Amino acid sequence: MDASILNYTVNDNVASFLNKTQKLYIGGKWVDTNSSKTFDVEDPATGEKLASCAAGNSKDIDLAVKAAREAFDSGKWTSVPANEKGKIIWKIGDLIDQHTEELAQLESLDNGKPVAVAGAADVPLSSDIFRYMAGWATKIEGETIPISVPYTPGAQYHSYTLREPVGVVGQIIPWNFPLLMAAWKIAPALAAGNCIVLKPAEQTPASILVLMEVIGDLLPPGVLNVVNGYGAEAGQALATSKRIAKIAFTGSDLSGQKIYEQGAKKLIPVTLELGGKSPNIVFDDADKEAAVMGAISGIFAATGQTCIAGSRLLVQKSIHDEFVARLIEVAKTAKIGDPMSLDTHVGPVTTPPQFKKVMDYLDIAKAEGANCVLGGGEYTGEGAKGSQFVEPTIFTGVSNDMRIAQEEVFGPVLSVIPFEDEADALRIGNDINFGLAAGVWTSDMGRAIRMSERLRAGTVWVNTYRVVSYMTPFGGYKRSGLGRENGQQAIMAYLQQKSVWIATETSAANPFVMK
Ligand code: NAI
Ligand code: MG
Repeated sequence: MDASILNYTVNDNVASFLNKTQKLYIGGKWVDTNSSKTFDVEDPATGEKLASCAAGNSKDIDLAVKAAREAFDSGKWTSVPANEKGKIIWKIGDLIDQHTEELAQLESLDNGKPVAVAGAADVPLSSDIFRYMAGWATKIEGETIPISVPYTPGAQYHSYTLREPVGVVGQIIPWNFPLLMAAWKIAPALAAGNCIVLKPAEQTPASILVLMEVIGDLLPPGVLNVVNGYGAEAGQALATSKRIAKIAFTGSDLSGQKIYEQGAKKLIPVTLELGGKSPNIVFDDADKEAAVMGAISGIFAATGQTCIAGSRLLVQKSIHDEFVARLIEVAKTAKIGDPMSLDTHVGPVTTPPQFKKVMDYLDIAKAEGANCVLGGGEYTGEGAKGSQFVEPTIFTGVSNDMRIAQEEVFGPVLSVIPFEDEADALRIGNDINFGLAAGVWTSDMGRAIRMSERLRAGTVWVNTYRVVSYMTPFGGYKRSGLGRENGQQAIMAYLQQKSVWIATETSAANPFVMK
């Protein structure tokens, strides 16, 4: 697609991205793929082609892992003093901010998210995590242990721990927050001293390619490599590579399971951030207007394509009808359409298969007997240029055993489930295979604390929903994943611990006792 065909003005760097065939970034250079295959970078709002992208294969992954291994083994990154590492990582954050316009526009064109949201949230959250992790680079410390050993009487030891990078890490990310998921993965791995091979989602390669244009030269060659390509080819090759020391993945539970199996075969650590079917629970003593807004953002932001979507709205029976009426009233004000328009609230679904999946679930819910009180079909109204728009949809009368209540839709589809009392809310809330997040709306602080303790989820929001920060650990219980991203936990996930023992006085103890 040519910039002049777009009905809005794009940043010059975005214009120069369009129409080009994008390469792989390996060993500090832009290189062609060995597969000689490309895939289209598509605009989900129009279905039109924006650019082409090299589709990396297993040979490209091998080369990228080799470049990362060489960079790691030669100490190109580990030997950079911690304060210098911190400065470089901080600078990545600043460069992201300086390129906000083009990154937000590309995120919108490629993923379909409203450009205003990408500019206000995705880009600054990405730059900020680099600055946060930059600070960690100088705070990776071990402990000194006042050791004593009963079977070596008289001996003295100086014992301490070191925290060291795991080595070369393979990172595989999804299409719903391309830039932010790259930032969540790259920033802590770099701060901890690792070298990286990142495989973006084949549906949304654009913003990461521009990110590498912008930041590539800051890092020694091979420290950060980006290989675009399909999950079943480049993704699988990365997960099965014998020379990576850790895998970090965000995506579906089924792909996560396959990747975990690959990690198990090599006995390497795997962190997984998988999906959710989170309960957003509204009690009758809640600030109802705030809860309505929280329910709306919980399900319609990012067109519902978020792992933390509050897709099960549990509403206490005593306020159910009044609450749902107001919910519908507010949901109807959603402006659906061109994500590049600054006033758009809800953009298209990002990919054709995802659109089909959402449409299929609308049929499933109706067949199960759920009552569709808003939307329920494709949106073809004003502003919908392509064929991937779904009406914001609300189903009432959902019971928690229906598929629409148990399975992740990943679209703007809300299931409203009534409950009697606190015990009932807790039972329904926890009656699910996932455990990524939960919301509780109540003015009773005792109840808020009880519910926060008893809900089986990695994040519980009280009287708010969908806020995340790079400072707070993020991850799932149950099928929602393993390990935590963000905060100190994310740094720890990219480090391993070494214990060092130095004998300062030896012992005459029986040598055959010691192990
Ligand atoms: P997916 O999990 O298959 O893809 C995510 C990433 O994994 C992509 O980069 C893909 O290329 C890669 N991948 C896929 N199969 C792989 C394999 N065998 N080995 C290595 N890498 C592999 O997710 P998909 O198909 O894009 O979406 C399907 C569903 O997953 C969505 O409808 C949604 O329910 C869920 N999902 C959850 C996300 C989350 O934030 N937790 C993000 C994206 C999707
Ligand atoms: Mg796209």
